[in-house]
Amino acid sequence: MCGITGYTGSARALPVIMEALHRLEYRGYDSAGVAVEGKDGFFLKKVKGKIDDLDAALDGVEIEGTTGIGHTRWATHGEPSQKNAHPHFSIDRNIMLVHNGIIENHDRLRDRLPEDIEFTSETDTEVLVHLLSENYDGDLTEAVRFTLGEVEGSFAVAVVHRDEPGRIVAARSGSPLIIGCGGEGNYVASDLPALLDFTNEVIFLDEDEIATIDSDSITVQTIDGEERKKSVNSISWDAVQAQKGGYKHFMLKEIAEQPQVLRQSMRGRLDSEAGIVKFPNLELDDSIFKRIEKINLIACGTSYHACMVARYWLEEMTDLHVEVDIGSEYRYRSLNYEADREMLVTVSQSGETADTLAALRKVSRLDVPVLSICNVLGSTMAREADDVLYTHAGPEIGVASTKSFTTQLLVLFLFSYYLGRLRGSFEGDRELLEALEQIPDQVDQQIRDREIYQKIAAEQFKKEDFLFLGRHLNYPVAMEGALKLKEISYIHAEGYPAGEMKHGPIALIDEEIPVVVLGPHSRVYNKMLSNIEEVKARGGIVLGVCMEDDKQGIAEMCDYLMPVPDTEELLTPFLTTPPMQILSYELAVRRGCDVDQPRNLAKSVTVE
Ligand code: M6R
Repeated sequence: MCGITGYTGSARALPVIMEALHRLEYRGYDSAGVAVEGKDGFFLKKVKGKIDDLDAALDGVEIEGTTGIGHTRWATHGEPSQKNAHPHFSIDRNIMLVHNGIIENHDRLRDRLPEDIEFTSETDTEVLVHLLSENYDGDLTEAVRFTLGEVEGSFAVAVVHRDEPGRIVAARSGSPLIIGCGGEGNYVASDLPALLDFTNEVIFLDEDEIATIDSDSITVQTIDGEERKKSVNSISWDAVQAQKGGYKHFMLKEIAEQPQVLRQSMRGRLDSEAGIVKFPNLELDDSIFKRIEKINLIACGTSYHACMVARYWLEEMTDLHVEVDIGSEYRYRSLNYEADREMLVTVSQSGETADTLAALRKVSRLDVPVLSICNVLGSTMAREADDVLYTHAGPEIGVASTKSFTTQLLVLFLFSYYLGRLRGSFEGDRELLEALEQIPDQVDQQIRDREIYQKIAAEQFKKEDFLFLGRHLNYPVAMEGALKLKEISYIHAEGYPAGEMKHGPIALIDEEIPVVVLGPHSRVYNKMLSNIEEVKARGGIVLGVCMEDDKQGIAEMCDYLMPVPDTEELLTPFLTTPPMQILSYELAVRRGCDVDQPRNLAKSVTVE
C-alpha cells in the first residue's frame, strides 16, 4: 500500500503536497517523492526513507509551481530505494506518475514497448509511464484511459503532463482515491486525512473511473469513456482529529480516545431503559435478518479478532449458525451459499483491505445480502456492500489498530443484540445495556494509570517470546494481544486458547517466558485458574488480566496484575483489550521501536 496525492490551484503546490504526504505516511514509509510543475519542466525529488527525509532533502527549495503530485511508498516490487521511489517519469520527463497498487501484467506490457526504452527502476509501475508516453497524442485523459484499459491488477494513479499545465489526471481500480474540492484549488489523495487541512468537500471516485482535475473544474468518466455525474460529500471529521494532540504517539492518543469514540459510536443506537438497540441508518430490510439461518463474518488481522469475539455474542443472543473466516482464506474457498438463508458481514477499519474486499465481491455476485462494518466513510466496502454500519472511531493513524477494534466490538455487540431481539431468540437485557453504557467510563479509568505497564516493560522488555492465553470471549482478545505486541515491538508472541496449551505450547514454558493470562470473572474462570497453575508449576512468569475485586485466586497467583473493572461477562472483551494495547505500547517504547510506523507494515493492505 502507498499514499498518493496531488494538488492544482492558485497556491504553491509543494507545501500543500508535503502537508498531505505527512498525513498519508501511515500508508507506507520506505521512500517518498514529489513532482511539481516548473518553468523548464518538472521539478522532481525522490528519497529513500520517510517524509521527514524528503522534507530535509527539500530544505531551501522554493518552487513556484501550483500543480504537482506526491507519493509515499510501501515497497511491493523492488526494494525501498531512491530509484524505485515515485513519481516515475517518461524518458523525455514530460510525464510524471504516482501509483498505488500492483500491475500484475507488467512483464507482458513491457514487451509492447520499444526495445530501446531503458528502465530506471525495478518497479511494476514504471511500465505504465512509458506506455502512457507511447499512447499520448495531445490528450492526457485519453492516454490514461487507453493505457489503463490494458492493465491487469489494482491501481490508483495520478499523472501530470508538461504539455497540459495545471491538470492532474487520476484514476482508480482496486485502490482508493478521493478528490477534494476547495477554495484554493482541487486535490486528490488516497485517503481523507490528507485533504482535511484543506477542504471538507470531497468526491469519492468509484471503481474504473478517471477524473480530469483542473484548478477550477473536475470531470469524471469511466474507463469506457462514459461521462459520470458525481456528488460532492461534506465530511464532518476535521484535521485536528487526525493530529497527535500532544501525545507522544498516535497509538497512545488513539488508545486514550477510546472512551470518547465508544460513546460516539453508541449515540442514538441504544436505549437502555427500554432495553433496545436500534440502527437508525440501517436500510437493509428486517425481513432479511429474520429469514437468514446463517451469518458469515469475514475480516483480516485485528478486524478478524473482532469477528471472533462476535461469534460468541451471536451464538449467545441469536439462534444463527455463525461462521468466521479470514478474508485471504475465504476468497479461495468453494462456497456453498444458500442466498436466501445466509448473509455476509465484512468488518474492516479502512474498508479497503484487498482480501476482505475480494470476499465481499465474491459473495455479492451470488446475490447474498452483504453488510459492511467499517470506519472510513465512503470507503470501497461501505459503497459496495448492500448496507453499512459505521464504527465512528474517527481517523486512526497509528498502524496498530486500537480504537478501531473496540468500536468494531461495540457495533458487533449491538448488532448481535439487535438481531437476537428481532428474531425473538433474545428478550433483551436492560442491565446488560446499562453495563455497556458504563464501559466508556470504565475504559477511561483503566487507561489513566500506566504505572503497572511501565513496570512490566522495564523488567520484561528484553524477552523475545510472550504467550497470551484466554478462553471463550477472551480467547480472541489473547490473539489480539499477541498481534499487537508482535507488530509494534517485534517480540515474538503467540495467542492461544488456554485449553490448547497442553497440546503443545506448554513445551515453551520456562522461567524466561512471560505468559499473559486473561482471567476476568466468567464461566471459564476456574479453567483459567488451572492454566495459571500449570504455567507457575513450570516456572513461567504470569501477567494476569483480572478483575479489580478478584478474590477467587487468579490475582494472588500472578507475578504482575493488570486490573480490569468489574462488568458483565459478555462485556469483558471491552475491558480486557486496553491492557493488551497499553502493555504492547509500553514494551515497544521501552525497546525503542517506531510505534506508529512499525517496520514492514502499512495501515491498510490494499494489495493481495
Ligand atoms: O482496515 P482493516 O481493518 O481491514 O485492516 C485489517 C488488518 O490489516 C489490520 O487490522 C491489521 O491487522 C492491524 N494493523 C493490526 O493492528
